Amino acid sequence: MTDKTAHTGKNPGGGDVRLTGISKSYGSFTAVHPLDLTVPQGSFFALLGASGCGKTTTLRMIAGLEDPSTGTVFLGDKDVTDLPPYKRPVNTVFQSYALFPHMDITENIAFGLRRRGIKSVKKQVDDMLELVQLGDKARHKPHQLSGGQQQRVAVARALINHPQVLLLDEPLGALDLKLRRQMQLELKRIQTEVGITFVHVTHDQEEAMTMADQVAVMNGGRVEQLGAPADLYENPQTTFVANFLGTSNLIEAEVLETGSGGSDVLVTAGGGKLRVPGDRCTSAVRQGGKVLVGVRPEKISLTHKDDAGSIADGRNRVTGRIADSSFIGVSTQYVVNSPAGAELQVYEQNIERDTRLVPGAEVVLHWNPAHTFGLDAAQDIDAGVETVEDAG
Ligand SMILES: Nc1ncnc2c1ncn2[C@@H]1O[C@H](COP(=O)(O)OP(=O)(O)O)[C@@H](O)[C@H]1O
Ligand SMILES: [Mg+2]
Repeated sequence: MTDKTAHTGKNPGGGDVRLTGISKSYGSFTAVHPLDLTVPQGSFFALLGASGCGKTTTLRMIAGLEDPSTGTVFLGDKDVTDLPPYKRPVNTVFQSYALFPHMDITENIAFGLRRRGIKSVKKQVDDMLELVQLGDKARHKPHQLSGGQQQRVAVARALINHPQVLLLDEPLGALDLKLRRQMQLELKRIQTEVGITFVHVTHDQEEAMTMADQVAVMNGGRVEQLGAPADLYENPQTTFVANFLGTSNLIEAEVLETGSGGSDVLVTAGGGKLRVPGDRCTSAVRQGGKVLVGVRPEKISLTHKDDAGSIADGRNRVTGRIADSSFIGVSTQYVVNSPAGAELQVYEQNIERDTRLVPGAEVVLHWNPAHTFGLDAAQDIDAGVETVEDAG
């Protein structure tokens, strides 16, 4: 293990990255609407959203590569809004690693120190090589390394400058899936080891959830929701977040009883009644009227209609007919059409498979009401659903 301070140095004036009222317009087009965001010092923070939602623009404003139209960028207590990029204690790693092809790995990593006139770089470069686990590649040229290794060199080259904040703009975007998964864990390990604030931009929700302590979900130049991965996943506040992070079943429903004092909200959907915990409903839901009821596919159990009597009391249930099933090893994924909603998704772990659960079978979908959430119906039910063209 390398000593933390070897990379970061002491950081007495350090602190959070704080954006207040920051926005960016290009002519009449607003790429980033005024936004307030605090990235806690030492955290791994992800900006997550589809292509074009303003992630890179936000990152470039932190780096000083883009002048904000309004607002202020603070690093700790220091207003850096008017500082040029090279005067900010910030480094950026891009998707294209832009290593110097004619220099070996050692010289690539030493570059920032050399440029500042520092001659004895060996100790620091060795620490960096160890940090990114490329000690045996010190004298290789970039083209002799894999994509993942080159990206680790790019990270080392940035970290050797002791930035207060490392900005990463889709750094794994050029890697294939397997390598990307490895590098996600690797970057997370490096961040934990050096303790520097990482702001990581990605359009891949799994990547953001795997790596980040906090995720800001962006949509159309705004932060739609901010939170820890599990909190965002379990308690989405909008249909966009519910659909963009994983998969949600969203069922159109009508409120029968608005729960008072934190008790359950009772709704009707497709002729049946469902319970939603009051504290998992957005405020609009507790006003009554039309709402959307959400439940994740892995929370639902499927029982053949003939065994419906065995389902425990108190569970939310809807009836349906299996339209499709795909066996994918750890689980079987079912598509079920129900009076409550078309094409409901159900993921069943493969433990004891009921061979009657095949397309055409009549079933009951049931789940613990605690796993239900309620959203305002006055929004696009399909917002954030990934289409084939976006999948990238
Ligand atoms: N220099 C520019 N001039 C005009 N529009 C721009 C410029 N840079 C970015 N945009 C627009 O701003 C929006 C946000 O871009 P960007 O921050 O790069 O999105 P992301 O990184 O989330 O894909 C996009 O619609 C993009 O086309
Ligand atoms: Mg971008």
